[in-house]
Amino acid sequence: MTVTTTNTLTTTGWWRDSVIYQVYVRSFADGNGDGIGDLPGVRSRLRYLSELGVDAVWLTPFYASPQADHGYDVADYRAVDPLFGTLQDADALLRDAHAHGLRVIVDLVPNHTSEAHAWFVEALAGGPGSAARERYHFRPGRGADGELPPNDWESVFGGRAWTRVPDGEWYLHLFAPEQPDLNWEHPEVHAEFEDVLRFWLDLGVDGFRIDVAHGLVKAEGLPDIGGGAGIELLGSAELPFFDQDGVHEIYRGWRRILDAYPGARMAVAEAWTPSPERTARYVRPDELHQAFNFHYLGTDWAAPALREVIDASLAGAAGVGAPATWVLSNHDVHRHVTRYGDGATGLRRARAAALLTLALPGSVYVYQGEELGLPEVSDLPDEVLQDPRWERSGHTERGRDGCRVPLPWSGGRAPYGFGAPGSAPTWLPQPGDWAGLSVEAQWDDPASTLSLYRSALAIRRAHPDLGDGAELRWLPSPEGTLVFRRGGGPVCAVNLGAEPVRLPEYGPVLLASGELPGDGVLPGDTAAWYTVDGD
Ligand code: NOJ
Ligand code: CA
Repeated sequence: MTVTTTNTLTTTGWWRDSVIYQVYVRSFADGNGDGIGDLPGVRSRLRYLSELGVDAVWLTPFYASPQADHGYDVADYRAVDPLFGTLQDADALLRDAHAHGLRVIVDLVPNHTSEAHAWFVEALAGGPGSAARERYHFRPGRGADGELPPNDWESVFGGRAWTRVPDGEWYLHLFAPEQPDLNWEHPEVHAEFEDVLRFWLDLGVDGFRIDVAHGLVKAEGLPDIGGGAGIELLGSAELPFFDQDGVHEIYRGWRRILDAYPGARMAVAEAWTPSPERTARYVRPDELHQAFNFHYLGTDWAAPALREVIDASLAGAAGVGAPATWVLSNHDVHRHVTRYGDGATGLRRARAAALLTLALPGSVYVYQGEELGLPEVSDLPDEVLQDPRWERSGHTERGRDGCRVPLPWSGGRAPYGFGAPGSAPTWLPQPGDWAGLSVEAQWDDPASTLSLYRSALAIRRAHPDLGDGAELRWLPSPEGTLVFRRGGGPVCAVNLGAEPVRLPEYGPVLLASGELPGDGVLPGDTAAWYTVDGD
């Protein structure tokens, strides 16, 4: 292994074709042996990330927080939670990452604070009509005694989106009751977040992942949805609390701040919208730089549907001059190995999906562990579940813990090097059969998923036509397959069916997600990259 010690960062639009690795901090690596991942743990694994070949990391929230939603309930936006380290640790991590040639994006959670945030504490104490309540959405209830919530909105985590406080008023929380929604009509809210941006930019972060970027502005008057419509993260319905036109003015303001800093700082929107066209509105030239492509993430393993969403996404992004931003998994959804099918089939498809995704024009987000082919852990015992969804849904939805199980790094049994020997048990138990999936087990195995990702990332980085390089051109191909070429560069062919297909012999194989029998045959659920003869 070689270590990159020079800072190779450029100042151009680096995000346009970067591969950004999502570090879910509490599950990445444990530096102090308490069973929970932390910033020193991340710092100790930077060499791994740089040798994996990614360009940047996104760190999920490590700010002071009661952890009601694992850090997406922020009590102090400028402080590091002792669970994860100190501000010095964050600073050291940033410097080390940059020295490894890795950029760092941090999470910004502007839709809601924690109930432990000083503003909310003040709002509760201030009582009805107080100025402090105006920073949130407090309302009297409906019904004779105000015993009914102010409207019919439901929480993303289940149950109503309103909680009543002892003085009789209700406050809005689109997520858990511990996450009161901020009122983005309030000038102090704007000023505060602009200042928070500057705080982290001054420390040297390269960008922000904007949590619930589609949710900050609510429709005037907080109208009922009607018809018993529930809240949906990725709805096709128009909802009065998501994707309102007013959010875009906020991002125009933030863009001006980012642009004023040297070194090409960026922001990526977590915006669940009804269509790629709506998503593209977040990445207009004077707004944010990227928006996760959840339409791609949500598409089944089927050639026509994937082709349609790829075309719509590319058209949406091109329409506003932005790069497309592909994503297959994150800490909120079932891991795609499991989404795509059972056992070996799911893994086979996930490996093929990796080559498909990494060949598409634009930038790619990789969720920690997908490079190891980790499956969803679907059999966590009830008593270890921590996602608020589990409780809020009355134990009908198991929630997102299954994709958040701590990573296996090495060794034959838990904690698989997640923490030093003798560490406390990991905050979620790791399966007993993960030894073969560890980084150590896969690193030198050329057939491993980790080797596939490393090779793909190396080829992608070296090839000018990949990434943001040349345009994508579909080539004629049999039903159930997707074949495209990047300009005059490589061809990517994916067989999404179960049966082998024979393809034209494009040229030498650069990389394949499974064994190829030769003679231009591409087995089922397999992808390959080819160099075209004559290039
Ligand atoms: C999206 C985050 O990714 C998720 O983990 C969190 O629960 C919600 N936003 C609320 O902040
Ligand atoms: Ca720890």
